[in-house]
Amino acid sequence: MSQSLATVAYLGAAILFILSLGGLSNPETSRRGNLFGMVGMALAVLATVFGPRVSPAGIPWIIAALVVGGSIGLYAAKVVKMTQMPELVALMHSLVGLAACLVGFASYVDTSIQYQGVEKVIHEVEIYIGILIGAVTFSGSLIAFGKLNGKIGGKPLLLPARHWLNLAGLLIVIWFGREFIQAKTVAEGMTPLIVMTVIALLFGVHMVMAIGGADMPVVVSMLNSYSGWAAAATGFMLSNDLLIVTGALVGSSGAILSYIMCNAMNRNFISVIAGGFGSGGGATPAKSGEAAQPQGEVVPVNAADTAELLREAKSVIIVPGYGMAVAQAQHTVYEITKTLREKGVKVRFAIHPVAGRMPGHMNVLLAEAKVPYDIVMEMDEMNEDFPDTDVAMVIGANDIVNPAAQDDPASPIAGMPVLEVWKAKTSIVMKRSMASGYAGVDNPLFYKENNRMLFGDAKKMLDEVLGALKA
Ligand code: TAP
Repeated sequence: MSQSLATVAYLGAAILFILSLGGLSNPETSRRGNLFGMVGMALAVLATVFGPRVSPAGIPWIIAALVVGGSIGLYAAKVVKMTQMPELVALMHSLVGLAACLVGFASYVDTSIQYQGVEKVIHEVEIYIGILIGAVTFSGSLIAFGKLNGKIGGKPLLLPARHWLNLAGLLIVIWFGREFIQAKTVAEGMTPLIVMTVIALLFGVHMVMAIGGADMPVVVSMLNSYSGWAAAATGFMLSNDLLIVTGALVGSSGAILSYIMCNAMNRNFISVIAGGFGSGGGATPAKSGEAAQPQGEVVPVNAADTAELLREAKSVIIVPGYGMAVAQAQHTVYEITKTLREKGVKVRFAIHPVAGRMPGHMNVLLAEAKVPYDIVMEMDEMNEDFPDTDVAMVIGANDIVNPAAQDDPASPIAGMPVLEVWKAKTSIVMKRSMASGYAGVDNPLFYKENNRMLFGDAKKMLDEVLGALKA
């Protein structure tokens, strides 16, 4: 493939990536957006593999690597459960970081292109920064993976003088950067490069270990952004324009997402990165999923009574959360919605921006179950409607409906905007036990006078509610 054809293909791929991002911003156009992304990526890979910079002798190696990597990816995509997606995404971010490190070291030891003068300095700065971002992304994402799948506890690790440690690390990295640029030979430059890589790896571990469980959504999107910048840095090292553009798109969209997440959780972005958030000003969170100290009496309800409350309601708001995803209850939720709407009940969904375990988690599940988009609302649109609502039905959600976020300044989730379900005439919380949610905080909602607890697996209980509604 000639250089000009490869350039045209790269341009086409870049446009498709931009259209893809545009499409993904709305559930109705997201399938098309995904398709644009897939076609763009296929075009980019083909133009790179068969482009002018790959010698024919290298093609079988690349194809072999594509088959191995593609098969692992295909297998992972087939077996991964929807609730495990954030872990998979974190793991994939770590691979982008690792790739940036490997490409950085390879382009440093590669002497086939001789850079001179300013060009040499620029190339070495690209390598240094590329490996720096790559190593932070790699180790940070691995820790995020461990935290998300529960192998590493959600409690933040707060080392004494951690900010000073970070500052010292930064100064050492800058010092060794100078040594690296001034090195006369590859062998001489290797020591500062390796020292910096080790510090960057430690920084990545420290950064994510210091972040509390409640702030993991921000971390996931932040690492998404880092992986984009790592890819862009790789693009600079390889002088590959498409990789620079794609990396910048991922980097900036990840940064915007992190900002949106911070707003949704009322967090300061810089404070989250600096660590220690989610630890709580005073209250100690229980381990995620553990029952906290009871704060009063709860009023249990059964499926038949729930159906009765729903049938008699004029308006119902459904609040789905992580438990709906675990139970895969979205299809029954849709059946109940349909049945209630046929009976003239106004049913809407209220979606919290960090419900579930990844951005848009609930929207994807509800779209899969064919719930109409026009009754799926954002938190801000719905919060003022709860006082005029007869029944707020919470399905496997916990942290996102916790009034302690508003009432208890010592709570680890203090200040996080929540769905005010307790303002409805009656709220019903469907979950299996009194266990806490992801942030490990007790929920005073359960003990409110107008709240009822429907204990059991969400799918099983909703099937029973549906049966009773249709009876
Ligand atoms: P959570 O606070 O995690 O609560 C989910 C509840 O679902 C649990 O208390 C659990 O109680 C219940 N549950 C689990 N399996 C169930 C089943 N089969 N049937 C019925 N209930 C079940 O979820 P949420 O309210 O959606 O809040 C999300 C949390 O995750 C927030 O703290 C958020 O910060 C965090 N987070 C979000 C993201 C993103 S980007 N969305 C990423 C990482 C972390 P039982 O065990 O008693 O059933």
